Order: sequence, then C-alpha cells, then structure tokens
Amino acid sequence: MSDDSTAPVSGRDDSLVLIAREGAIATLVINRPDKHNALSAPVRRAFLEAFSACSDDPDVRVIVVTGAGEKSFVAGADIAEFATRTPVDQYRAMRAPSPLEAIERSPKPVIAAINGYCLGGGLELAMACDFRIASDRARFGQPEINLGIIPGGGGTQRLPRLIGLGQAMRMILTGESIDAAKALRVGLVQEVVPGDALKSRVHEVALAIANKSPVAVAAAREATRAALQTPLAEGLRIERGLYLLAFASADKEEGVRAFLDKRPPHFTGH
Ligand code: COA
Repeated sequence: MSDDSTAPVSGRDDSLVLIAREGAIATLVINRPDKHNALSAPVRRAFLEAFSACSDDPDVRVIVVTGAGEKSFVAGADIAEFATRTPVDQYRAMRAPSPLEAIERSPKPVIAAINGYCLGGGLELAMACDFRIASDRARFGQPEINLGIIPGGGGTQRLPRLIGLGQAMRMILTGESIDAAKALRVGLVQEVVPGDALKSRVHEVALAIANKSPVAVAAAREATRAALQTPLAEGLRIERGLYLLAFASADKEEGVRAFLDKRPPHFTGH
C-alpha cells in the first residue's frame, strides 16, 4: 500500500516503519516486505517509536496502520527469532513495551488497512486497532498451532470477542486462514474493497473521523472499548463520565452552535 503513496514519507527508505502524513492522518507502514513484514524485535521497536511520535503529535487526529508491498499486512511474529530464543528470552520479549498496548492506550483512533496476509501477530495487531478495512486479497489466520505454540499477543482473547467462540476456536485450533469475504461475514473486518481502492477508501474513512472533535472521538473510543472489558453497570458509569467530559468541551459549544447556525462545525480539540 505504501509503494504508490504520494504523501510525504519520513524515515529512510530502509526504515522498518515509515510514516506517511496527509494532513491530520498519519499512516504507519510496516516496511519489511521481503519477510512479509514479520514483526521482529527491531520492527516492534521501530513501530513503538513511530506510533508514539504520531500519537503525541497534536496535529495528528487519526492513525492508519498498514504493511509495505502488495502481499502482506503482517505475516506474524518473526519465526526465525523463535529458533534462537530461550523461554526466558521469550518471557522478556513478551514483557517489553508492546505495540498493541500502545494502540490501546492512545487517545487517537487507529485503523488497520489490511493489504494482504494478516497472520498470527499481524492479526493480533489488527485486532488491537479500532476497526479494520481490508483488501479483497487479504487473508486472515492464527497459524501458531502449526508451530506447536498458541497465539501469545491476545489472539485467544480478542478473536472470540470479535467473532464469537466457535469461529475463533476453529481458526485457532486448525490454524487455517480465511479470505476477506469470510472475514467480513464473521465481523473480523468492517469493510472489504478491491486492493487498488484500499488506500483511498481508508483515507476517506479516516478523514471523516479526523473532521470530528478529537475530544469526542477520544471519549467515544475509550467508552466503547470499555464495553468489552467491564460489567454493564461499570461501563455505563464510564460512559457517563466521558459524556460529561465531551459536554464540557469547547468543541461541544462549537458543534451545537454550528448546528443551530446551519453551518459545518470547526473542531479544535479543546
Ligand atoms: N517470520 C519470519 N519470516 C517470515 C515470516 C514470519 N512470520 N513469514 C514469512 N517469512 C519469510 C520467509 O521465511 C521467507 O524468507 P526467505 O526469503 O529468507 O526464505 C520470506 O518471508 C518469504 O516467504 P515465503 O514463505 O517464501 O512466501 P510465500 O508467499 O510462499 O508465503 C506466507 C507467504 C505468509 C503464507 C508464508 O510465508 C507463511 O506462512 N508465513 C508464516 C506465517 C505464520 O506462521 N505466522 C505466525 C507466526 S507465530
């Protein structure tokens, strides 16, 4: 997806994660196409650095995550690293700061633009994003069982929450991948578009969100995420608190005034 990008790209061409900026939208491109963008430790570090630069930048309102090249979003953790790591090395690696937690903690919405294979840690990364738009060429799977291991980046927890226990169990126990049409049917992705339309469609959706109040977007995101992590009464309490935060914002004054004045709102994030 990055290859035809006309957006200014920062980072050297050989950077493991590139940042393409188009106005308020920052696209992080995982850039290791010769290894299907597998998430090695250096890729994870580069991702964290690029992600926090975008997340901390007040001019960025929406972050998109995608993979370089035509073939893969991310084909999982780097399997070559598994061959040499001791269990203690692996424990340390799993306790290191994680791209998934960074995405979840960020106040910015994060869209996964899935341009190809989305496997193992790649699917776990995509599931940590707020929602997923996929190319019709994408494929999805948790193939860890084929290596004699299990998903270790949240796959066993997030997949059943997204697509239900039976569908998740089938994917995790067989290791078989599913195509984009099935991913759409089971709710793993929210939209599927022809491969050459992925970039423009994701931009369109990102722009729609970028034009909302960043305060309301952050509050809505946090409240909605709480739905899967808390009992209903607790979730409703969280929603009320975040509603009142948005209600107290200058952007709420602007949104209500603009509606009454019959003009488009201009939100500043205050
Ligand atoms: N980790 C490390 N290297 C990987 C990788 C991964 N997850 N996925 C692919 N690669 C490497 C291959 O080893 C190969 O390296 P080489 O050129 O040095 O031999 C290169 O990427 C190209 O992969 P290849 O398998 O030849 O491409 P393909 O088009 O035939 O198949 C996949 C693509 C994605 C279906 C296949 O590579 C695959 O199944 N990858 C592993 C997926 C997986 O099990 N992920 C979960 C890990 S826990």
